[in-house]
Amino acid sequence: MADVRKVGVLGCGLMGSGIAEVAAKAGVETWVREVSDQLAEQGKAAVTRSLDKAVEKGKLEASERTAALDQLKFTTRLEDLADCDVIIEAVTEDLNLKNEMFGALDQICPSRTIFASNTSSLTIADMAAATSRPDRVVGLHFFNPVPVMKLVEVVRTIATSDDAYRTAFEFVKNVGKEPVVAKDASGFIVNRLLVPYMLDAIRCLEQGLASVEDIDKSMVLGTGYPMGPFALSDFVGIDTLYRISEIMFNEFREPRFAPPPLLKRMVTMGYFGRKTKKGFYDYSGQAPKAVNLGI
Ligand code: CAA
Repeated sequence: MADVRKVGVLGCGLMGSGIAEVAAKAGVETWVREVSDQLAEQGKAAVTRSLDKAVEKGKLEASERTAALDQLKFTTRLEDLADCDVIIEAVTEDLNLKNEMFGALDQICPSRTIFASNTSSLTIADMAAATSRPDRVVGLHFFNPVPVMKLVEVVRTIATSDDAYRTAFEFVKNVGKEPVVAKDASGFIVNRLLVPYMLDAIRCLEQGLASVEDIDKSMVLGTGYPMGPFALSDFVGIDTLYRISEIMFNEFREPRFAPPPLLKRMVTMGYFGRKTKKGFYDYSGQAPKAVNLGI
């Protein structure tokens, strides 16, 4: 099992920037690849903001912030990731796009480089099979917000080698997260349970059981969840939840994973949740306000 000294992160959106921050804070040289200079700049600004906030809150020393930023490099060139020990993709949930990137990296990285995917619902085998190194492909599923959520699901396929799996598992521990072992089934552990729960809440709403606010309040105050299912759906992204449920439904063909019509309508209308300031709640004012969804 090898030490992970240099990590690559593909994509610097919400998940990619969080993963890069966590790795850099742990003292690992971290190369983030974005498709344009503008997106790379935005990604760098997001990580810097998050580190600044941690310093303001007294959670991080100013010297630790500087040390983390020193470990971070941003690039648009895949070639700069060539000698990474682990490369974690956190791009859009699109298998073709992921495989295109892994295919290109397969040509330029040495055989020891481990390819990891932060996919939330695709299977890792579908990516491993597109490379010449299926034994060195794993899933590393982080949770949003990455700097806060302790868990990482470490996923092995039927082809992952023990060495690659152990290296990935230890890497997760070394960056201060809690790894769990998960098999390569769509949604792994958390989304296998969480996605049907969120979809069920939407079905309850469609059937007029209770209001958005009261369903959320019930789960927060009745069960101690940090957020209710609608606040969480807006947080994850309505479009993301829709895409995950479609992938899981196609995989398992079970009605509990099928996207309810209301979810589909919200995606059509661009109600993507917090990112568009409108989902089950409207976020344009001081406090979130439930949106009238005509139910
Ligand atoms: N980056 C860094 N720190 C953050 C943060 C971020 N984006 N968002 C919140 N925090 C920190 C805050 O600084 C705060 O830290 P302190 O207590 O040390 O000051 C702490 O988290 C709590 O934040 P807040 O007080 O602002 O707000 P909160 O108490 O309402 O917590 C929350 C916010 C952590 C997001 C909490 O509501 C929560 O845990 N929600 C559930 C999140 C969840 O379920 N995530 C998984 C989603 S599913 C997924 O990611 C997988 C998938 O594939 C879809």
